[in-house]
Amino acid sequence: VSRKSFPEDFVFGTASSAYQYEGAVKEDGRGPCVWDTFAHKFAKVIDFSNADVANDHYHRYLEDVKLMKDMGVDSYRFSISWTRIFPNGNGKINQGGVDHYNNLINALLANGIQPYVTMYHWDTPQALEDAYKSWVSPQIIRDFGAYAETLYEKFGDRVKHWITLNEPHTVASQGYDTGIFAPGRCSILLHLFCRAGNSATEPYIVAHHMLLAHATAVDIYRRKYQSIQHGSIGAALDVMWYEPETNNPEDIEAAQRAQDFQLGWFLDPLMFGDYPSSMRQRVGNRLPIFTARESALLKGSLDFVGINHYTTYYARNNKTNIIGVLLNDALADSGTITSPFGRDGKPIGERANSIWLYIVPRGMRELMNYIKHKYGNPIVLITENGMDDGNNIFRSVEESLKDEKRIRYYSGYLENLAEAIKEDGCNVKGYFAWSLLDNWEWSAGYTSRFGLYYVDYNNNHKRYPKNSVHWFKNFFNPTC
Ligand code: GCO
Repeated sequence: VSRKSFPEDFVFGTASSAYQYEGAVKEDGRGPCVWDTFAHKFAKVIDFSNADVANDHYHRYLEDVKLMKDMGVDSYRFSISWTRIFPNGNGKINQGGVDHYNNLINALLANGIQPYVTMYHWDTPQALEDAYKSWVSPQIIRDFGAYAETLYEKFGDRVKHWITLNEPHTVASQGYDTGIFAPGRCSILLHLFCRAGNSATEPYIVAHHMLLAHATAVDIYRRKYQSIQHGSIGAALDVMWYEPETNNPEDIEAAQRAQDFQLGWFLDPLMFGDYPSSMRQRVGNRLPIFTARESALLKGSLDFVGINHYTTYYARNNKTNIIGVLLNDALADSGTITSPFGRDGKPIGERANSIWLYIVPRGMRELMNYIKHKYGNPIVLITENGMDDGNNIFRSVEESLKDEKRIRYYSGYLENLAEAIKEDGCNVKGYFAWSLLDNWEWSAGYTSRFGLYYVDYNNNHKRYPKNSVHWFKNFFNPTC
């Protein structure tokens, strides 16, 4: 597989996020975000690390732009830190933050690399958490809209691709159900009770406000900026592919429900103006209701669907809720058990380092076809795809650069993506590998390395190309 397997105008890039990359958390007027607070609490991050320095992208962005150019990508997806622009989440603009992103954007463009900008990649302003519990309150909708508008004003002359929210599903479920991500509401113990009683309400409220914040930001763009700035706007959703574990109708339905509770939870409102009916049925009056005006605002509020896709799980019907409570990654309300292991105990594919990440390239093609059929073949961008190695402290840097498994991962997934486009007619327009550099992987801290470039955290954050960089160079410019 190579670039030639894709349409000519297909866009390739790498993806990153501010909190995982930048470091410099106290510089140039940046305010604290909920992840600063969370990471500094005891034992929230597996290696007791935090992202105060991360991979130092804030200072090294020029060097990193060179790495991208050298690799041959034509775009870069990164996120803007809300609290660099508004240290308190709203109010006074911080010029230091504006300057930084102006510099980054200009450097990218000078090197022929198109910026794809995420407005929110989980780094909620701590001030808004303190003031009104951030996403739990509808007040955030207006603050997010004002923040988005500031970004159009400051950067929209040069940024032509906007991604409002990154993975609202992950924020709602991990931040407010399992509590393993910031702001960590519902601890893992409480979690058992929350789920056993099916009483979870906050994840649904949070998701509801995130959807409305997205729609508000898009509405502002479309009314005031899009016709002048000529850009496009969408959101990035995390989506696994779910395979029914057996051919029993109840497992086939369970796989569909698992998808309703992950992709449908967000993409149904964005496309059709309301949540999937299976969610209404199972969540009942804990699932908020859209007014007619809100529903109209949501419907069609994206120019493209961003998809973060990594892995595929089996899904089966869950009759005994308690088991689901213990094993499940999906909200207990879905009545499904999703797992990388089949009933025979065999894994669905080769495992990467992260315990949740199994390599199942066919899932990419299946998922693209599912979206095509259910949502009327919308424009899709793969906003993330990739795999991690562990941070093995006994392995030399040189050894760590031999990432043949990652090369297998990318070639498999890209092959399936090319087939989805060419053979199945799926309307996919771009692809972003996660990630250019090793970086700080949330609760997994520095134990996980998703980069194409290795970052030597012990030695001045020096970057080294892994073999997958050479593979990608050849992918972009095939020598034969
Ligand atoms: C996201 C992702 C990234 C992760 C990546 C690997 O929300 O976009 O969680 O931030 O680093 O998905 O887990």
